[in-house]
Amino acid sequence: MLDYQAILEEIHQSLNSVKDTGEVASYIPELANVPKEKFGIHLQLITGENFSVGDASEKLSIQSISKVLSLTKAFQLVGNHLWERMDVEPSGNPFNHLSLLELENGIPRNPLINSGAIVVADILLSNLKNPKKDFLDFVRNLAHDNTISFNEKVAESERLNGYNNYAAANLLKSYGNLHNNVEDVLDFYFHQCSIMMDCRQLTNAFFVYANKGKCLKNIQHLTASQVKRINAIMLTCGFYDEAGEFAFEVGLPGKSGVGGGIVALLPHCFTIATWAPALNPQGNSYLGMKALEHFTTKTKLSIF
Ligand code: DON
Repeated sequence: MLDYQAILEEIHQSLNSVKDTGEVASYIPELANVPKEKFGIHLQLITGENFSVGDASEKLSIQSISKVLSLTKAFQLVGNHLWERMDVEPSGNPFNHLSLLELENGIPRNPLINSGAIVVADILLSNLKNPKKDFLDFVRNLAHDNTISFNEKVAESERLNGYNNYAAANLLKSYGNLHNNVEDVLDFYFHQCSIMMDCRQLTNAFFVYANKGKCLKNIQHLTASQVKRINAIMLTCGFYDEAGEFAFEVGLPGKSGVGGGIVALLPHCFTIATWAPALNPQGNSYLGMKALEHFTTKTKLSIF
């Protein structure tokens, strides 16, 4: 077997000295306070073994990584009706762009850009009794960890500055693709994005996508077909206008967030999470992408 611990340490060490790694997200002011030099990696094999390096057990704001989890819950609840309200095509645009949404009559290109995730949030609001509580319980359940929580400060910081998401939600509403009111949908969306998890918890929660829909405790949450579809969406849309680059460099389905986290997985083999808050111009973690590129190159483990 490969010496995974040694591989993670080698990657961590070789990248830790890189200077020009980009900027921490500041459009959500609360995220601008996160120290730029944080860097952690956690790997979990499908067999249950875990390997960790650096700041992998410190909590980060999962931000857009939550879009995969909300999509999963909505897929469970409404099945293929999801695709009546959004598409599954890569957007080739930044995560918060609005122009395609107008051109395509209020149907978001995919569930992982902001407008798509806002429609998913609307679906959850319509189908859950206590949306925020039920969604948090769902995430805790997937990760088998009841300590996972919202960060109210981050949610409020985003609400006070979320003009772009208000624009997206209002545009969706004008096309009839938002059934609840804008304020309620965005309150839910900002809370889902504010969830705090560490790298290990992220690999726990994403285990289900590497394990044919069964979580760590072997409970079936998704059908094999649903897992196939969610992994395909992560591969083609998980990194916005850098999805091609991520497939090219790393070769795994995955998802990033502006908190600097990335989770990726190889079906039937492993889940891996990285955290490094400085972002490249596309809003993806600079060191996280590099670390994953090194990992799949060194181990020769990728879907290609
Ligand atoms: O809606 C937003 O802009 C943020 N809550 C999430 C964006 C995000 O994480 C983009 N990913 N890299």
